[in-house]
Amino acid sequence: EKAGHRHFMAKEIAEQPVVLADAISRYSTAEGALNLPEGLDFTGIDRVMLVACGTASYACHVAKYWFEQVAGLAAEIDIASEFRYRDPVLSERAMTIFVSQSGETADTLAALRYAKGKVAKVVSVVNVPTSSIARESDLSLPIHAGVEVGVASTKAFTCQLGVLALMALKAGADRGRLEAAALAAHLEDLRRLPGLLNVSLALSEPVTALADELARARDIIFLGRGAMYPLALEGALKLKEISYIHAEGYASGELKHGPIALIDDQVPVIVMAPRDALFEKTVSNMQEVMARSGKVLLLSDAQGIEEASPGVWQSLALPEVPPVWAPILYAVPAQLLAYHTAVAKGTDVDQPRNLAKSVTVE
Ligand code: F6R
Repeated sequence: EKAGHRHFMAKEIAEQPVVLADAISRYSTAEGALNLPEGLDFTGIDRVMLVACGTASYACHVAKYWFEQVAGLAAEIDIASEFRYRDPVLSERAMTIFVSQSGETADTLAALRYAKGKVAKVVSVVNVPTSSIARESDLSLPIHAGVEVGVASTKAFTCQLGVLALMALKAGADRGRLEAAALAAHLEDLRRLPGLLNVSLALSEPVTALADELARARDIIFLGRGAMYPLALEGALKLKEISYIHAEGYASGELKHGPIALIDDQVPVIVMAPRDALFEKTVSNMQEVMARSGKVLLLSDAQGIEEASPGVWQSLALPEVPPVWAPILYAVPAQLLAYHTAVAKGTDVDQPRNLAKSVTVE
């Protein structure tokens, strides 16, 4: 059942190229058109509100950047346990999007019930199409990741991102922000991603070589800018969940507003820096860390590493990727770092202490 892998998590990480390709091809055509459910219409929508818990909320956080950048559509994010009790202001022109692997998370379901009838449409993005969240939505999009057994979410995250990316493109098209040619170019880029994920899976080997040292750390910091900021949060969550090492994700620009006080030669700092418009800024934050003897692990493409690596502790080279979709690709090394560090520590990777796969009570 683990298909030759030591843990379900390893199997599910390795499955990502296949399931992501499946998810993308269900909602788009090889000819460069979208194929989303008819009811998903952003005409007249002035705001999307994305709500979820945990890893699913980081998928929403990435999607916020996409809706803003690709579709010029205002996007808000919230975690479900806050949204449901906060008296959020809704309107008939808002669309709410609830994201959940299980479709049974109590807080997300309660948040959905709060929004129902008060917004233009309640949409959900789920892995279990028969789940409560799917059934109670006006419209539900399955992510087609297949059954996820490992408590730490991996393939569901990348498939959530894939589906949310297509939804952002639809919003761009509906709002007249994306011409057919630009849309087709984005779709071509997205359809190439599963192949790049496959290449990134080869990082398993160099990550294993680093894992013993990471496993000895007491604290680990993840940094990213733009849509890589939520990936820093996800990398830190995944690591603490299964290795029990204290980890924090920060927006690189926040470093000097506090967290830099933590840096010394014992603290690994994992910098997620695809070569995008913000690359130089992230590199300069990274240099501030190195000036304080921080042990930097740089994740970038080969050229980024060549430009920025003097002085770093270690680096991991990813394939080049269109910057907008980089978060999908960088999810893989984030997962591999958590997985191999946990294996090196000898923790129960698939069933980490204190955690349940589906959180059906608040
Ligand atoms: C992290 C993880 C959790 C879930 C969260 C939401 O690896 O698995 O943070 O993402 O409990 O669960 P779903 O997506 O089922 O609503």
